[in-house]
Order: sequence, then C-alpha cells, then structure tokens
Amino acid sequence: YKRITTKTLVDMKKKGEKISMLTAYDFTMAKIVDSAGIDVILVGDSASNVMAGHETTLPITLDQMIYHAASVVRAIERSLVVVDLPFGSYQSDPKEALRSAIRIMKESGGHAVKLEGGKEIKESVKRILNAGIPVMGHLGLTPQSIYKFGTYTVRAKEEEEADKLIEDALLLERIGCFAIVLEKVPAKLAQQVAEKISIPVIGIGAGNGVDGQVLVLHDMIGMTHEFNPRFLRRYLDLYTDMKNAFTQYSRDVKSGDFPNESEQY
Ligand code: KIV
Ligand code: NA
Repeated sequence: YKRITTKTLVDMKKKGEKISMLTAYDFTMAKIVDSAGIDVILVGDSASNVMAGHETTLPITLDQMIYHAASVVRAIERSLVVVDLPFGSYQSDPKEALRSAIRIMKESGGHAVKLEGGKEIKESVKRILNAGIPVMGHLGLTPQSIYKFGTYTVRAKEEEEADKLIEDALLLERIGCFAIVLEKVPAKLAQQVAEKISIPVIGIGAGNGVDGQVLVLHDMIGMTHEFNPRFLRRYLDLYTDMKNAFTQYSRDVKSGDFPNESEQY
C-alpha cells in the first residue's frame, strides 16, 4: 500500500491482514515509525503521560494535541494519522465535539479522530462523521474515565459490562466508524467483537483474536521503565541505553575527553 487510508484498513481486515499501529507525538519519532511501515500512527492523548508527565490523560488540551499532531503529520509519507480528541473537548455536546474535530483536521492535517465511549457519545460521533471526518472508536478501558473506574485493571470481565461493550461496538460500526480500539479486555471477548463486526478491531491488552495491535511507542522501546503491564512487549531497553549514553557523555565532558582534536574547528 502506497498510502494507508481508512478504506485500506477495512480491506486489510477483509483479507485477514493484521494492522500495525503505534503512537507518536513528535516529528522525529513519527518519521522513524512511518518509514518502518507501521500502518497507523496514533497521536494519543497518552502524550499527557509520556510527553508531559501527568498522572492521567485528563489534563492535556486540544491545543496541545494539535501541536503534537501537526508535528507528526509533517513527518509521514505512508501511515494513516489518527488523533485523539482529548478529555473535555467532546463530552459536553455534539456541536462542541464537531468543532474540536474540525480544529484537529484543519490545524494539524491529521486524517481521522478517535473518541472514547459508545452509546453516550453516539450523537457526537454521528455529527463528526456527517462532516466527512473519519472516526475511530475506543472501548473497554477508556483512560479518560479513570476516575469513574477507579483502577486501570482489565474491563468487561462481568457479563453486564461485556454485553454493553458488544452493543457499543455494533453501534459504532452501524453509525459509520472505520475501526475500533479495544483496550484491556479479555481476549475471548475481544475476539467475539472482532468476529461480529466488519470494521477492524485494534487491540491493546486484548489478545490475539483481533485485527491489529497498538502499543504506546515509549513503552515498547523501553524508554519508560516503571510501567509493566502483562500486555506490554518491550523491543528495546532504551531507558538503560540512553542513561548509559548520558552518563558517558557527562564523564567525557568532565574528564576533558570531549571534544577531541577532530571534534573542533
Ligand atoms: O492514547 C493512547 O495512546 C491510546 C492507545 C493506548 C490506544 O489511546
Ligand atoms: Na488515548
């Protein structure tokens, strides 16, 4: 695929091809992710944690999300760029939701938006879709509701919540979302959802029975090292490698080893 579109992703599901997705929040990282052939780049509101050091995703603003998204968009040639609508930018009413989505599309150049929730945000999703803006859903553990849940543990283990999740997934498909993220739900339930709907289900902590996977970039390359959920596979230990590099640099400066003859004018 030369350029990934929302339609490409639906076609990939039809063909049984898995979809790869990673977060990115800045130009330099997004350039590497795009060149590696990752299908979807998510400018996640996890930037609130990873980039800004907040404990939750709630504080990040729409302006800050647009800054991150615009930086990412400037780097990409192939990946589809999906941008999270942050907490407080879409929950009040559908008009506010549409205004926020339009700002993201106009000011960042992103290709789609992602919103957390099902039935509760139905009218907002419809309004955004009516404006021609593609929407990705997000069900299961929705971190913007962390104070309602009270815990980051796995969701929808009980029948009532599992039934609501299935209903919400069907609803999001019916009103026209192009994909859904399922976060931290039992693998069996996630597979059921993926089998019931024709749009791709991208999992994080949702097992291998779904249509694709997403991870937070800084977690999977091991830059963060205090966050250790079961679903996280680390491909690098950059925290250690970078710390060693910084330590060595400091030693070299203090010892007078850096810069040497060939490193000066
Ligand atoms: O913000 C984010 O990084 C996300 C993913 C974990 C799906 O929403
Ligand atoms: Na998010």
